[in-house]
Amino acid sequence: MFDIQEIRSQFSILDREVNGKPLVYLDNAATSQKPNSVLEVCHAYYTELNANVHRGIHTLSQLATEEMELSRRKIQKFINAEHDFEVIFTKGTTEGLNLISYILTQKLKKDDEIIISYLEHHSNIVPWQLLCERTGAKLRVIPIDENGILQLDYFDKFLSEKTKVVSVNQVSNALGIVNPIEEIIAKTRKNTDAYVVIDGAQSAPHFNIDVQKMDCDFFVFSGHKMYAPMGTGVLYGKREILEALPPFHGGGEMIATCSFDGTTYAGLPFKYEAGTPNVGGNIALGAAVDFMNRVGRENIQNHENALLEYAQRHLLEIEGLKVYGEKAKRVGVVSFNLEGVGISSDVGMILDKMGIAVRTGHHCTQPIMEFFNIAGTVRASFAVYNTFEEIDLLVEGVKKAQRMLS
Ligand code: ALA
Repeated sequence: MFDIQEIRSQFSILDREVNGKPLVYLDNAATSQKPNSVLEVCHAYYTELNANVHRGIHTLSQLATEEMELSRRKIQKFINAEHDFEVIFTKGTTEGLNLISYILTQKLKKDDEIIISYLEHHSNIVPWQLLCERTGAKLRVIPIDENGILQLDYFDKFLSEKTKVVSVNQVSNALGIVNPIEEIIAKTRKNTDAYVVIDGAQSAPHFNIDVQKMDCDFFVFSGHKMYAPMGTGVLYGKREILEALPPFHGGGEMIATCSFDGTTYAGLPFKYEAGTPNVGGNIALGAAVDFMNRVGRENIQNHENALLEYAQRHLLEIEGLKVYGEKAKRVGVVSFNLEGVGISSDVGMILDKMGIAVRTGHHCTQPIMEFFNIAGTVRASFAVYNTFEEIDLLVEGVKKAQRMLS
């Protein structure tokens, strides 16, 4: 049974006040709050287990290693990867995307093409621009229509033997649009031998992820947006691809042998995990997966969809409020502006005075804002612990902001 009060009771931070009002936290696409079970795992790690992993014969080191590797297996199941060593710990989606674009450098040459979309976060744009600078490759960008939907007829035209990488997000962070990645992957496979990269930062918190069924080559996501600590994330890559590509960072842990005559590299996943990892955070990411499994990923999705539907309906009752992005194709996010009334940060500041946390501005997606010819939006984004009463407070707050700014 889905008991929202019981779920909320697992998040101590939700009891706090902000500006004298109960906190209404609607900035989950930026980062979610963490349940007490995750915080307890972090605390227990540092009070009972702290040691470096994979390199100690002593008991604590072995226990910490076991816990971190157990977490890797939980994540493997969470995304249905074939092997646990295809799960590489990172510090988040940005690092994952930079890693992939770096290790693909030798695979691209002048005039090859990388396809991304207008809906990408800067972290799925800039690393590819850097790769283009290193190799002379070119970026092709799938446009969107006025509903924020990818125009796939352009994608069809872009696909060619020059296409070496296709990298798109599954869900847009700015608009919440769910992209047709199944179709994008199928078309890429049919027409090219390009690498397929999926940015799952905004989908992993909401959807069941099955990387084998998806048939992507890489899938990246952040832990902190799905109830885990900051500085955690995952890069999934297909075994044969990761084995064939060069390392990213050099350092301890990623070598098999190291001498001044040369270095050989460790096997997966260690080849891509140079240096001391965020052991406590990585273990806590496993606890966040446990939390999501306990609640049930279907329950999470159903509740968040109901919140989105309710928020959209009531926000649109406000005259002059414009929501960006086709409603039927969104998850977890409602991005809007009050037409002719102030700028998004003015609305955000008034909401903050009422204890309501939303994100305002360009959301690290300046191309989307340029497309709609706006400086930014007010973005409310939902997690499993949000309530319909909180949406009512948001709607009241937006009405108040409209009165104050008119
Ligand atoms: N990428 C995060 C967001 O959309 C920070 O807010």
